Amino acid sequence: TPQQCREVTEEYNKEILKLTDKILELLSEGLGLEPNTLKSSLGGEDIEAEMKINHYPPCPQPELALGVEPHTDMCALTLLVPNGVAGLQVWKDGNWVAVDCLPGAILVHVGDQIEVLSNGKYTGVLHRTLVNKERTRMSWAVFIAPPHDKVIGPLTQLVDDDQSPPKYSTKTFADYRYRKINKLPQ
Ligand code: OGA
Ligand code: NI
Repeated sequence: TPQQCREVTEEYNKEILKLTDKILELLSEGLGLEPNTLKSSLGGEDIEAEMKINHYPPCPQPELALGVEPHTDMCALTLLVPNGVAGLQVWKDGNWVAVDCLPGAILVHVGDQIEVLSNGKYTGVLHRTLVNKERTRMSWAVFIAPPHDKVIGPLTQLVDDDQSPPKYSTKTFADYRYRKINKLPQ
């Protein structure tokens, strides 16, 4: 509820899944693999899209607080739309770099599961958010993730024992999440 919100969200979900397919195809090709490789490794049509709406109220002392602490997203991809208030920063070459708000743009983060599948050829982006003194910031994030019981590890096509040994262990997404949330070694 409200009904209109449901309809808009369902429509958005359809478009997000189309965009996801396209991005995963391009990322697969970037690894020199068949276009469907990453999608099928993430569960194919069982891939999940989970929306989180972030709400950052104005903060009287923004220099003393963060909206979200530095982290990488544990999903495969994040598709993010902010409300036009800046605040997102990404870690690049040893500095926090502010991400511009481009009207109509969707920000795409590579998440942990793509890093694992690609055996580190793609790396999850470290990011954080600042708060704003005057304005409320909101962002709509869709996390694209495998089903919980899907086993994720470096793609066998990208691994060989001599030249490129696996850099990550293989485990279910549920196990990965549990370890990350509880700060256990992966
Ligand atoms: C997140 C996140 C960034 C933002 O929800 O994981 O990093 O811009 N959000 O709100
Ligand atoms: Ni995030």
